[in-house]
Amino acid sequence: MCDPERRPRASGDPDGPDWRPLRAADMARVQAISELVHPTLPERLEVLEEKRRLSPGTCLGYGGEEIQGYGIAHPWLFGRIPVLDGFLDGLPPAPDCLFVHDVALLPPARGRGAPARYIRLLGGFAHAAGLRGLACVAVYGAERVWSQLGFEVVADGHLDAKLRPYGGALYMIRRF
Ligand SMILES: CC(C)(COP(=O)(O)OP(=O)(O)OC[C@H]1O[C@@H](n2cnc3c(N)ncnc32)[C@H](O)[C@@H]1OP(=O)(O)O)[C@@H](O)C(=O)NCCC(=O)NCCS
Repeated sequence: MCDPERRPRASGDPDGPDWRPLRAADMARVQAISELVHPTLPERLEVLEEKRRLSPGTCLGYGGEEIQGYGIAHPWLFGRIPVLDGFLDGLPPAPDCLFVHDVALLPPARGRGAPARYIRLLGGFAHAAGLRGLACVAVYGAERVWSQLGFEVVADGHLDAKLRPYGGALYMIRRF
């Protein structure tokens, strides 16, 4: 059974700051970063905060006290795509994957391998929780990032309607 309270251990980057659990006080900055990097995909602060509250162990901030980026993920089901800017209203009772809702970094924090370390932390969490893999929606051509991290595109017409609000997006999964 999945325990969303379980926190992954930060991987410890000798060259600088790394990932740490997001706190409620970080969420205004999370939303500000989100507005900067995803101006066409706005999400309410309360919607982002709900995900952190439901799965604090997989919602992490990057780059020290004043975060330079964030990763938001939560236990979910393969083949289901949460509504953008919508509340989850709880987690599924028997999740089979972690849905990586978003990874976003401010430009100075990019190019340091932070997404790969976040995905490694999520992998550890998912294994410990008995989940079978990771899923995400790749926006703005970001499938290159995800495919380098072991994700593969799932082509399924049933998902098209759910993907439309995300723009030209692809559903991708990485099974263990
Ligand atoms: C996506 C993001 C988190 C990647 O972070 P990063 O630190 O730049 O990633 P990495 O340095 O580990 O890049 C890994 C590879 O993906 C490529 N890449 C990075 N961002 C990319 C993007 N948006 N689209 C396509 N390729 C991208 C890099 O060039 C690199 O390729 P290379 O190894 O062949 O040079 C960051 O660019 C970002 O915050 N972008 C804005 C938000 C966003 O689009 N998030 C993804 C939502 S699905």
